[in-house]
Amino acid sequence: MKFRNFKMVDYVVYGRGCFDQLDEILAPRRTNGAPVIFLLDHYFEQNEAFKNRIPLRDNDELIIADVTHEPKTSYVDTIADHLKDKFGTVSGVVGIGGGSVMDLAKAVAIMMNNPGFAQDYQGWDLVKNKAVYKVGIPTLSGTGAEVSRTCVLTGPTRKLGMNSDFTPFDQIVLDPALIKGVPKDQNFYTGMDCYIHCIESLQGTYLNEFSKSYGEKALELCQEIYLHKDVWDEDSDEKLMMASYAGGMSIAYSQVGVANAVSYGLSYLLGTKHGIGNCIVFNHLEEFYPEGVAEFHKMVEKNSIYIPQGICRDLTDEQFDTMINVSLGMAPLWENALGKDWQSQMTRERLRALYEKL
Ligand SMILES: [Fe+2]
Repeated sequence: MKFRNFKMVDYVVYGRGCFDQLDEILAPRRTNGAPVIFLLDHYFEQNEAFKNRIPLRDNDELIIADVTHEPKTSYVDTIADHLKDKFGTVSGVVGIGGGSVMDLAKAVAIMMNNPGFAQDYQGWDLVKNKAVYKVGIPTLSGTGAEVSRTCVLTGPTRKLGMNSDFTPFDQIVLDPALIKGVPKDQNFYTGMDCYIHCIESLQGTYLNEFSKSYGEKALELCQEIYLHKDVWDEDSDEKLMMASYAGGMSIAYSQVGVANAVSYGLSYLLGTKHGIGNCIVFNHLEEFYPEGVAEFHKMVEKNSIYIPQGICRDLTDEQFDTMINVSLGMAPLWENALGKDWQSQMTRERLRALYEKL
């Protein structure tokens, strides 16, 4: 097919306080006494007030999702196996948290209805059966995981998502009140994931008017909250939440680029989290995105954010090779960034030199 037939999220509820409608939203999805499973970001583990707002009924289960590290395929299998053993099937999976929890919830929902292991489905259009009903409720904004057609997982041999039409959520709940009070650095790193998506999409060779419309709006919102406003307030939370959504929509119909391709290698080898990893890489991408990187430097300075440097200083040749292999494996990202002849432009030597700068 020449044009992608884009599967979107089915239902979206947006508004300050809309989280309280969750019970009502879930009610018609509860089938034959099968429970709803809530995967909650471990960030909220001690937050009893928030936990009490989660509409648990009957045999529902609340699982604290350990996202100290970005989700691994083995973690997805552990949770899905536990749920299959205990309940047979479930009415749905609800992920409440940052991008890692969004992706974990999508992957667990897929594995409830698909045989084998999560690692078998890392790639494009490998998922065979429809997932169980799944809901995403972001408490951090920027990754676009709430709208994406993938769920990024680290497997035994690669970091790659389950890209499929069965991956997007059936429902998302966008409540800007839930992202209030995110620590400043975390807010920035995750917000920059969105900013970088916009630059990569808008500067990419895959760009089209669909992606551009969303990407430009998301970019404008990021510039407003990270560059033009002097205080972070409720309006900033609302703008960031919509920037993340629009940024996600933009890359859904185009692709990300150099920062993401390079940071995947970092994250695979060193476990660097996606948001901060993208910042570490983007900081040094002047040759690819001169205007975006200059503006990024301004935002870093204005918000007094620390971007780590020298993280590849002590790596061995073998470790550099691992990162280079993971990164060059992301062909669509490179092609979007550099065009069809990307392989002749991004040689292993050039990529190695880039890693050495980080
Ligand atoms: Fe990203």
